[in-house]
Amino acid sequence: MSKLSLERILQSQGFGTRKWCSQLIEEGEVSVDGKVIRDSRCVVETEGLEFSVYEEQWIYRALVYIALNKPANFECSRRASHHPGVLTLLPEQFNLRDVQPVGRLDHDTTGLLLLSDDGAFIHQQSSPKHHVPKLYHATTAEPVTPELVDYLLKGVKLHDEPAPLAAISCERVATHQLAIVLEQGKYHQVKRMLAAAGNHCTALCRTQIGNLRLEALCLEPGEWCYLEAAQLALLTTAAKL
Ligand code: URA
Repeated sequence: MSKLSLERILQSQGFGTRKWCSQLIEEGEVSVDGKVIRDSRCVVETEGLEFSVYEEQWIYRALVYIALNKPANFECSRRASHHPGVLTLLPEQFNLRDVQPVGRLDHDTTGLLLLSDDGAFIHQQSSPKHHVPKLYHATTAEPVTPELVDYLLKGVKLHDEPAPLAAISCERVATHQLAIVLEQGKYHQVKRMLAAAGNHCTALCRTQIGNLRLEALCLEPGEWCYLEAAQLALLTTAAKL
């Protein structure tokens, strides 16, 4: 159980500075359990709290965990330069509460991207020590041969990498498509591994992290959802092709 003043609650949820939040409340724009509250210092229990701001409904979340179906032509970096940033696909509140992508996908890579404002979670998910397997579907310029699959499984030596990098698993899905599971998350890893193997990646989609499948989330490109405890638990289990 934890109680906070309504102005602090709004601030923690990304609605702006404390002063701005207090103004919103005093102007009658905030309701709790369907009742307008105009006293910004009013103390409220945060657990299970549902509130509305400008008639939009919100649930209090101490920390947020988000899955986005990233479309092409969005950048994961905070200071996006050539394309809009992925945060522009989310409500403004998430930006203000410092939600960040967990790792990065290239601007032209699509699929499952996690975002959060929980620093420990971001670190745990992106740390190489934690070996979170990720499944990608890659479309290739040249046909996928058994030799290519073999090569990716045995390990590919990439420039600037001391040891060869191997796929955890790799399967041909169609003449020009393969499914590949990687644990390391090095810069442009799938594309560089395919290039080093004499092929070329023409499209890339991340379809699974741990056992959390993009398909199960039913998100159209550009759509997002909160991840709840059961879905977060899937992130720590080994990915199956
Ligand atoms: N590997 C790549 O080459 N690009 C990505 O965006 C992710 C993995």
